[in-house]
Amino acid sequence: LKSSEDTPSFTVKSYACQRRTPLKHHNTFLTEALEILAENAEFGENEGRSVAFRRSASVLKALPYAVRQMDDLKNLPCLGEHSQRVIKEILEDGSSREVESTRQSAQFQAMKALTGVFGVGVRSADRGFREGLLCPSDLIRTGQKLNKAQQAGVQYYDDLNRPVTKQEALAISQIVERAVNSVLPGSIITLTGGFRRGKEVGHDVDFLITHEEEGVEEGLMPKLVNWLDEQGFLLYQKTTRNSYLESKDGPARPPNNMDRFERCFSIFKLGQCSEDSSAVLETGSDDSGTTDNVNGTTRQQPGSSWRAVRVDLVVSPFSQFAFATLGWTGSKLFERELRRWAGQEKGMSLSSHALYDSKQQRYLRANSEEEIFAHLGLEFIPPCERNS
Ligand code: CTP
Ligand code: MN
Ligand code: MN
Ligand code: MN
Repeated sequence: LKSSEDTPSFTVKSYACQRRTPLKHHNTFLTEALEILAENAEFGENEGRSVAFRRSASVLKALPYAVRQMDDLKNLPCLGEHSQRVIKEILEDGSSREVESTRQSAQFQAMKALTGVFGVGVRSADRGFREGLLCPSDLIRTGQKLNKAQQAGVQYYDDLNRPVTKQEALAISQIVERAVNSVLPGSIITLTGGFRRGKEVGHDVDFLITHEEEGVEEGLMPKLVNWLDEQGFLLYQKTTRNSYLESKDGPARPPNNMDRFERCFSIFKLGQCSEDSSAVLETGSDDSGTTDNVNGTTRQQPGSSWRAVRVDLVVSPFSQFAFATLGWTGSKLFERELRRWAGQEKGMSLSSHALYDSKQQRYLRANSEEEIFAHLGLEFIPPCERNS
């Protein structure tokens, strides 16, 4: 006979890629607090600490109930001593002093504002803060040397910090589809990133492009970018060519987690979306968007007929498409955990290009995400449940 349990027990697996994490969950008041600490650790370039807080938050996202007391955390993995202390304080007092003082601190706020500029990373934001910069307009006021990306980041700051809606993402999809089909008919275009995971809004729109005929996708990006630019859809773009070398025993392993696909980080000029349907496709030659000049930064006025939107374009050879799709769908923590699972539990090495089995000393092919999960000995987790 089974012993009866008085408390329903819910087990949570320890790797984020072993569990289902929906977009909406029951512990936002706790996860937001832990993620402030994670973000602050990133600003201090303390990766270990940041990942620890992100893993704790992620476990709480997977719970089918709201945590009310410390007892509700019994048997949960990944909750370190520090995270538990923060959770306890929030449950008892309604907030955590450490989280609130972090949130209020001048350094955290400045780092948040400065890294919020497209093209400004943690390193330059930190340098700026130590020189007394507190907000994006300080970059202009103090005459900082800015690269092209950062200049665009300052110029379109307001637009780029306004969430991109699903509707706007679909409007961009239509433009990208038109562009890709003009330069390489028959291409396959997938919306990846947060929107593929079911998010209602995002900070950008991510696309992965491939073609069934291996090889014809080579050189696609410059043609695509040209087309978009000629039609006036690009406010900024930086294209990086494919640096992934196929050696004779298979694809070489990238030196870090950054993949090597042909890619383009861009800023699109998107015509105003109407309420119910797709965007009015407006081109750059008709420059009806009114702008004004604020502290040397060009800012779009509310009511302008277009807005700037960050768009990431990635081109993958067909044979790597499943890996690229998995790698570009996220979440970032889910990806990280997949790679950790592969390495620590399976003796395999996973990237957005390939899966290498160290024991068998060979690459494992896959034509779908499902096959990759199967190779890894994992239950398939659909995109909308990868919101770790
Ligand atoms: N990615 C990547 N290499 C980069 C940038 C991103 O592989 N240089 C991957 C990330 O791992 C993530 C996906 O692309 O899985 C999407 O990244 P991003 O657009 O930053 O985040 P989203 O999850 O789409 O969330 P958001 O709505 O904020 O855009
Ligand atoms: Mn994204
Ligand atoms: Mn993001
Ligand atoms: Mn992106």
